[in-house]
Amino acid sequence: MIRSVVQGCGAYLPERVVTNADLARKMDTSDEWIQQRTGIRQRHIAADGEFTSHLALKASQRALAHAGLNASDLDLIVLATATPDETFPATATRVQAELGMTRGAAFDVQAVCAGFVYGLSVADSLIKNGLASTALVIGAETFSRILDWDDRGTCVLFGDGAGAVVLRAEEGTGSSADRGVLANALHSDGRQHDILYVDGGPSSTGTTGLLRMEGKEVFKHAVVNMAAVVGEVLAKAGFEAKDLDWLVPHQANKRIIDGTGRKLGLPPERVVVTVDRHANTSAASIPLALDVAVKDGRIKKGDLLLLEGIGGGLAWGASLVRW
Ligand code: UT7
Repeated sequence: MIRSVVQGCGAYLPERVVTNADLARKMDTSDEWIQQRTGIRQRHIAADGEFTSHLALKASQRALAHAGLNASDLDLIVLATATPDETFPATATRVQAELGMTRGAAFDVQAVCAGFVYGLSVADSLIKNGLASTALVIGAETFSRILDWDDRGTCVLFGDGAGAVVLRAEEGTGSSADRGVLANALHSDGRQHDILYVDGGPSSTGTTGLLRMEGKEVFKHAVVNMAAVVGEVLAKAGFEAKDLDWLVPHQANKRIIDGTGRKLGLPPERVVVTVDRHANTSAASIPLALDVAVKDGRIKKGDLLLLEGIGGGLAWGASLVRW
């Protein structure tokens, strides 16, 4: 049985850090409000001329180096983003060109904050079906470009960044027998469009549009759907919450993360939290969090990881991965 085994990961954050205090100097908000409601202390913001593809490229180069592989080894790039460089072509093809990868396929998936789990599931399926053997799965965003900086209810919540993992098809024998992506669960509910969307697009307004969110409503759905989907993906793979080594959740709000951890019965030290430093980076948040916990030595080969996220659509999902 073919498994998609993680070979390495990498991440990149823009240099510019904007703290809550920086925002409070420009708008009617406070460090106290932002930290209490979300756990966010700061976010990274891309420089002028720094695009999603640039962040994605740097994260990808680091992931390839960590995996000990070259771009020529890749035959698939799946890039999860809601903030592509251009309407088309896919930002993934820009990354493909910059990496110097000349074979295989590169495309984007769009599931906003659930994008990384969607991208991982798509890449895993293509690998399992023999359509690819070595894949780069990237989550990369420049949400600062689609924020309404006059709306304090949303603009303080998001940041820019990118993370990536390299997956490789393995036969599922020997030392890697139980490693890899073990199960995925994906869902969406298009009826919830109005609580989180961007009010523009090439076919509707001809503009890029700005992010609109009814935070309280999204919060309610997030708590319920995350609890359900983590149970679903564990059951699919025949595991229980007590078997988990790490929860690596989408980083939107510390209160949602804590709630999911509690429902799983996981102690806080088994939950990877980066929302304080990165804020909500949409599709990039899970691979960014993964990279932090792998590079600081917390996540080790053989650990059982649960990844989960929810965002605009609404779209949500979870993946169970033996690292
Ligand atoms: O990644 C995609 C998924 N997204 C999410 O998971 C987000 C889910 N939602 C949330 O995280 C929370 O709903 C928020 C953090 C967005 C908001 O927290 P909340 O506890 O739901 O606050 P609220 O929106 O109900 O606002 C409460 C008060 C309001 O004032 P009044 O009407 O009570 O006087 C807001 O005007 O806080 C006010 N407020 C602010 N005050 C200071 C809203 N934004 C700010 C701000 N600074 N930045």
